[in-house]
Amino acid sequence: MSDRKLAVVVLAAGKGSRMKSDLPKVLHPVAGRPMLGHVLASVATLAPVETVVVVAPGMDDVAAAAAPARCAVQDRPLGTGHAVAAARETLAPLVAAAKGQGGLDLLVVFGDCPLITPDTLGRLVAARQEPKAPDFVGLAFRPADPAAYGRVILDAKGRIEKIVEFADADSAQRGINLCNAGPLLGDAGLLFDLIARLGSHNAQGEHYLTDIFSLAHAEGRPAGVVECPAEEVLGVNSRADLALVEGVMQQRLRRAAMAAGATLVDPATVWLSADTALGRDVTVQPSVFFGPGVTVGDRVEIRSFCHLEGAEVGDDVVLGPYARLRPGARLGRGAHVGNFVEIKNAELGEGAKANHLTYLGDATVGAAANIGAGTITCNYDGFLKHRTEIGAGAFIGSNTALVAPVSVGEGALVAAGSTITQDVPADALAIERSEQENRKGLAARLRARGKARKNKTS
Ligand code: UD1
Ligand code: CA
Repeated sequence: MSDRKLAVVVLAAGKGSRMKSDLPKVLHPVAGRPMLGHVLASVATLAPVETVVVVAPGMDDVAAAAAPARCAVQDRPLGTGHAVAAARETLAPLVAAAKGQGGLDLLVVFGDCPLITPDTLGRLVAARQEPKAPDFVGLAFRPADPAAYGRVILDAKGRIEKIVEFADADSAQRGINLCNAGPLLGDAGLLFDLIARLGSHNAQGEHYLTDIFSLAHAEGRPAGVVECPAEEVLGVNSRADLALVEGVMQQRLRRAAMAAGATLVDPATVWLSADTALGRDVTVQPSVFFGPGVTVGDRVEIRSFCHLEGAEVGDDVVLGPYARLRPGARLGRGAHVGNFVEIKNAELGEGAKANHLTYLGDATVGAAANIGAGTITCNYDGFLKHRTEIGAGAFIGSNTALVAPVSVGEGALVAAGSTITQDVPADALAIERSEQENRKGLAARLRARGKARKNKTS
């Protein structure tokens, strides 16, 4: 092992015009996280000393999403080589400092290829750390359909002689199925020097990053090749590509969730976010959606058609079918939340139950409290949000409106159909309804009168 350090450049200056979007391409989410976030997460596993994201002018939101990675601006989109050159100034102090030390490698990756794995990036880095390592390493793959990818031409020793872009390739070269994935790795100083020499006399009039391989080869600097599965380098250029990448990512996440001890009864219908955390012996029935920020404890049962985001679900909870947990929902151990219950910014204590047709927003519900069908916390007065506090063991009768701010004490009972506007003391019974009147025989008389009228007109 050498003690070379690593810096990373992520190319993200492409306009992505085929996305037909106001959102920069690399900010389009895959599994609830921007594509760029996936790339940066993979890269972070290599513990680089610096990561620079190359953006186009005005891409401030990309820069914000990239933080704490730094950004460099490529003023015009003149090609992948030109894009890497844009990071030169930012990295110059590190390149200079590395000269006296073990050296600095530079890894280039694409921001629109979110499926690249830490394993593959690790193999690229490892290829540069062997004794007699090549000066450069390129990442290649063998797709079923090589389409318009750059072709990798190897020399007799199996080193990269050059990479020919599809637009510049002759028919023999187009027949090669070893394709350039895009990412490459090499000594940072050397790489920047070669990039500075790139021309643009090619079919697309661009500064091709890939041309560094022929320049290096001509100087007797060998370049090795690392191969990876084609699916990892699926790039996103269109919404259709985005859907394809999403599909692969979902498969990975489902496999990981199952490997960690969750049962997905029908995996293909469960949609997960990159950060979804499912505990052991969790069962997820068909058709459940996990948005970002969901943590689920052990032995939880999530029944069909639940929608969760930003929620914390404790051990042994039973959820759904048809439950909705919005951001800030926190369910304590053994809580039950049933059909058509919506919970937002609210905590349910251990063993609390809200089983039917309820909205709990900006609320705290104590342990073992029972929230009857049709209970609504009226948390919004048209201007401000207010909290509802429900004590442990309280019982809220069906069709109760709790007009916040309001509290119901421990062990209190609220009679069905009440509109509660004042605090209820612990162990009290609150009832707020108009008195019932039973008029004897009136229904029958009305029915008879109606019938008579109907007979007259027909
Ligand atoms: C590139 C490779 C090709 C490879 C393919 C794999 C080059 C010259 N060609 O082609 O061999 O098979 O990827 O997908 O490298 N970008 C910038 N600034 C620019 C141009 C591009 O930041 O001026 C970024 C893009 O946002 C994108 C990445 O670089 O993330 C790749 O650019 P793209 O135009 O998609 O390269 P390809 O032509 O597909
Ligand atoms: Ca591309």
